[in-house]
Amino acid sequence: MFYDTENNQHGLRHDPFKALVVPRPIGWISTLSQNGIRNLAPYSFFNGVSTDPHIVMFASAGRKDSQRNIEETGEFVCNFAGWDQREQMNASSATVGPDIDEFLLAGLEGEPAQLVRPPRVKGAPAHLECIYMQTVELRSRNGRHSYDMILGEVVGIHIDDRFIHDGMVDTAAMKPVSRLGYHDYAMVDELFTMKRPR
Ligand SMILES: Cc1cc2nc3c(=O)[nH]c(=O)nc-3n(C[C@H](O)[C@H](O)[C@H](O)COP(=O)(O)O)c2cc1C
Repeated sequence: MFYDTENNQHGLRHDPFKALVVPRPIGWISTLSQNGIRNLAPYSFFNGVSTDPHIVMFASAGRKDSQRNIEETGEFVCNFAGWDQREQMNASSATVGPDIDEFLLAGLEGEPAQLVRPPRVKGAPAHLECIYMQTVELRSRNGRHSYDMILGEVVGIHIDDRFIHDGMVDTAAMKPVSRLGYHDYAMVDELFTMKRPR
């Protein structure tokens, strides 16, 4: 099958785009509001896009609390959800007002970051401490605009020492949870290795 995305007449039950661009890592973004209220939400239009400097991005469908807090305070933490955090990660995606502490809502504890003020999710296998860089409006050729992309420089990285073996991160042991299409997720607990050609 083929369809053009201007008309988007795919004839399927749902737009298949998110079921094709898979698996998407989940940036579980913690922020503080200007009033100091803790906010937490998962974003799967998320990725690392550079290692020099270290940069991550996520895309927000409308100016949600995470985007607003980051633009107003200049800081965020990107937490990673392993298998053990999957339910809380999902719980933190509930649509609630900016006055609700989403750590409490999801039954999570925070712990301090080193270089930024927003808290980290206690128990998450890894965390990236980030400083806001810029927001990019994601506008179509003919001016449609729903999403903004938020870029942040990673200034500090925490890795739970339980997941470092022999000088390497043991990704499979972290059991990272990633997003597929529809309501589906994948969990990585098996790897294969392939060396690049010279
Ligand atoms: C696994 C998962 C991934 C999500 N990815 C995105 C995303 O990439 N962009 C987005 O705008 N919303 C995404 N959402 C929905 C947001 O998490 C949800 O709208 C949330 O309430 C936003 O919270 P905030 O207003 O505190 O930022 C996702 C939800 C889940 C469960």
